[in-house]
Amino acid sequence: MQKQSYTKIHNNILSWYQQHGRITLPWRNTQSSYEIYLSEIMLQQTQVKTVLERFYFPFLEKFPSFKAVADAPIDDVLKAWEGLGYYTRARNLHKTAKITKGELPRSTEALEKLAGIGKSTAHAIACFAFNEPLPIMDANVKRILHRFFAIKKRNDKALWNTAYELFDKNNAYIYNQTMMDIGSLICTHKNPNCEVCPFESLCQGKETPLLYPEKNVKKTKPIRERFMIIYHHQNGYLMQQNSTKLLGGLWAFVQEENFDAHAENITKLGEFTHHYTHFRLDAKVLFIHQKMKNKTYFSLTQIENLALSGADRKALELLKAYLK
Ligand code: ADE
Repeated sequence: MQKQSYTKIHNNILSWYQQHGRITLPWRNTQSSYEIYLSEIMLQQTQVKTVLERFYFPFLEKFPSFKAVADAPIDDVLKAWEGLGYYTRARNLHKTAKITKGELPRSTEALEKLAGIGKSTAHAIACFAFNEPLPIMDANVKRILHRFFAIKKRNDKALWNTAYELFDKNNAYIYNQTMMDIGSLICTHKNPNCEVCPFESLCQGKETPLLYPEKNVKKTKPIRERFMIIYHHQNGYLMQQNSTKLLGGLWAFVQEENFDAHAENITKLGEFTHHYTHFRLDAKVLFIHQKMKNKTYFSLTQIENLALSGADRKALELLKAYLK
């Protein structure tokens, strides 16, 4: 009985995709495992619109092949990633390019072992690039599964079983792409449009979709108050390369937790707030004429060509406004 019911859903999905699927997305019109993989990594934490309009094509123009990524210095990869955030993705992409010598493996097991490729991303690459019949389970798909099976509790391991249960292995490519389309266009987080959903007839959560999955208890983010100090000497500004896990490889102005911001030779350029996943940065930006020993000072033009984090870009904008 259940099998037959899913056949109906599978048919609904096929015809829905033909009418409404986002078939023109560039990563759905390529056979290149590199181009597909790149899209999946960019889309892990960034919306389709942003990836499509600002990042995907310029990145491919700069690095037309995975080999080109392998041959490039990490600084160039980070520069192309600038503005996308979650820079670990760029570092992992580069690491993977080097380890694989610019050629992704075909096997799902091998893909899953690579840095930055979890089970769902490995399945997405295996399915979209190598035609493997495997289900995916990104955030959008998870929401559909929670609602379809009326599951409140979040438990990825258990949810993978439902992903396999509902999966259409005979039309894996279309099924997976449709799940993502429905997740972002219909079965949305706050405003699901159940009337037009191809799952509607059998969805167990359709009366009260917002109950599934249960809400995460929102923790308020801790606030980090920091001084960002722009040291100026001759025509340069002091910058150093981050070695933290969060922003490793990106260039940054000096940050201090404690600083005498009232000293005579200091100019306050302004303040800003910047949101990271796990904390909020409240920064006060200071400008000082001072030569620091054994440090590198860069011209404004050079700084423009370095890969900076979002916060350092905000500080740079304050500096440029001050210099105008
Ligand atoms: N998010 C992750 N992968 C995607 C894809 N192939 N199409 C649209 N959104 C996605």
